[in-house]
Amino acid sequence: MQANSLDSVASLLRKAKEIVVFSGAGLSADSGIPTFRDGATGLWNTVDPDEVASIEGFLRNPARVWSWLLELKKLVDERQPNAAHQALARLQESCRGKRLTVITQNIDGYHSRAGNAPVLEVHGTIHRLRCHQHCGFSADWEQSAVEAFSCPHCGAPVRPDLVLFGEVLDEEVFAAAEMCSLTADLFFCVGTSFTVQPAALLPVWAKRAGVTVVEVNPHPTSLSTVADYSIRSGASEFFTALSAKIEEQQD
Ligand code: APR
Repeated sequence: MQANSLDSVASLLRKAKEIVVFSGAGLSADSGIPTFRDGATGLWNTVDPDEVASIEGFLRNPARVWSWLLELKKLVDERQPNAAHQALARLQESCRGKRLTVITQNIDGYHSRAGNAPVLEVHGTIHRLRCHQHCGFSADWEQSAVEAFSCPHCGAPVRPDLVLFGEVLDEEVFAAAEMCSLTADLFFCVGTSFTVQPAALLPVWAKRAGVTVVEVNPHPTSLSTVADYSIRSGASEFFTALSAKIEEQQD
């Protein structure tokens, strides 16, 4: 990571009032949670997402989707937020008078566990269950509920409260994410390959609205030529350095 880009981004952050951090699986990589598309370790290189993470797969064979998601939840529960999540929490602390909103595609709940707030989970969360018919039933997903079961209110299937491939996103959450993206002064895109829409459109809409966009990713992506800054760095390294820079300038 070039030192001058860190200085430039730190100075943008000092001036900004409304900041968005838009995160993908790469931000949780340092927690030991595999990303979806990275090389041989990518989750979608080891299992078919249509089978384990799509609405067709769930309706065809709910037990297969439950068992795969249970494995992922066990991994998430065994690991914890990493230095990137913690640095974001410090930045939120040191950025008084500013609003730093996290919009995450991740379902691991690590941003909230690290104290990041507000967090908009545009793809839902693996820690909560809901009625498939949206009748209003929802519950924490404790390990005890390992088998698919019917909604106690209406009898429909119960499923994890996350967005499966082929489903629409929660309108209210996405509308809030879109509003934050269009009214931000500074928009960080961290650890995402911009593969899945409509979430992947948020940084493009922000850029079109004149927002300064900073990408943080060890590898180039389709956004790299669009972003104002495309920083080749891991999330933990970048946000730890940025948080230290902001804190040293405040002393
Ligand atoms: N720091 C920052 N970025 C990283 C790191 C790291 N330490 N390690 C990997 N990356 C980057 C990779 O270079 C890649 O561009 O993170 C990105 C991960 O991309 P994906 O695996 O495609 O994950 P993501 O973009 O979050 O996927 C979007 O697809 O499967 C669906 O719903 C799922 O939310 C997910 C969506």
